[in-house]
Amino acid sequence: TVPQIRRLLNNAHALKNQSVPWLYPAGGLPPKRAKALRLPSQSLFNKSVAMLFSKRSTRTRVAAETSATLLGGRALFLGKEDIQLGVNETVRDSARVIGGMCQGIFARVGDHSEVEELAKYSPVPVVNALSSLWHPTQILADLMTLHQHSQLFGTPAPEAPFVPEHEQHEQHEQPQGNKHNKSLQKSKRPHAELPPLRPLTIAYVGDSANVLHDMLVTFPRFGHKMRVATPADKKYRAPDAVWDRVVELGCDKDIMWTDSPHKAVEGADVVVTDTWISMGQEAEAEQRYKDFAGFQVTEELCRVGGANPDWKFMHCLPRKQSEVDDEVFYGPRSLVFPEADNRKWTIMSVFDAVIGKWDLDGDRWSK
Ligand code: CP
Ligand code: NVA
Repeated sequence: TVPQIRRLLNNAHALKNQSVPWLYPAGGLPPKRAKALRLPSQSLFNKSVAMLFSKRSTRTRVAAETSATLLGGRALFLGKEDIQLGVNETVRDSARVIGGMCQGIFARVGDHSEVEELAKYSPVPVVNALSSLWHPTQILADLMTLHQHSQLFGTPAPEAPFVPEHEQHEQHEQPQGNKHNKSLQKSKRPHAELPPLRPLTIAYVGDSANVLHDMLVTFPRFGHKMRVATPADKKYRAPDAVWDRVVELGCDKDIMWTDSPHKAVEGADVVVTDTWISMGQEAEAEQRYKDFAGFQVTEELCRVGGANPDWKFMHCLPRKQSEVDDEVFYGPRSLVFPEADNRKWTIMSVFDAVIGKWDLDGDRWSK
């Protein structure tokens, strides 16, 4: 639900703010500040998260393994070459056995039904680390990144001043003269919560795949409009299982779909794309390169299409030049690396809530 997502994002923001100064004390923190730092939640202390990955991963894997460590626990990477699953053992039996020894399962699978099956038979929480249909943890990082850069979109200033990322280590400095007034100290921390964000127009130019699908069911519920361009062939439209969910959540009224990349970027504050050839689609590469001709995100495409002159660029990565050129990808509009960094804090937040504390619905995190 939207409140659950907000709580996960605020928790990710807090975990990042707690951990970054401690992990990356650039140049050494003054002792006064270092004293004010504290470890993030240790909710995974003595707990293990099984990472069942049947596909490659850089960001999701590194984010999950390092997050589990920071939360005081351990992640076990179980690639498809390592375990019996899929060769000598069924999903059902693997889910029960692994769930009997670990406190959570983070699974990257082929067909989406595999992660559903894991969730059905696992005695512990299962988190989707990417499936054929969805990539939910990616969209948490995307939302967090947009909120953290809200000043770029002219969002009215929040009460606390914006703190640029490289200065965020200063936020744990205790206000002088109020050492005994804890609530005041807390309220003076800039950005205890994620900064607000004005409603945006978000254009997606590319393949209707897992990453887009989660945007379709999430961004409109956060007040953003989506404009999507995919090639004319119907096979590049969202599958029924995804569209049914989009409609069920009432997101369809805020989504415009076209086969024209120029039309999609009209008025866009943010332009997003993803690879044209998702993992497992390698055999279709030649046909796909033909079908996606004209879909590369470039300065020219967005100028001719009439994007907001200050448009920003996002991409989940890994990236190929076919879908976005170097000028945009490495240029000043690009948010791709903060977006990649935020995979860590959002996955950490999910582990903390869903595996560490086992509570996403109460008013408070349970302990
Ligand atoms: N964005 C993303 O999920 O990247 P990886 O496949 O490297 O995990
Ligand atoms: N759509 C891409 C996302 C990679 C993070 C894929 O499934 O390969």
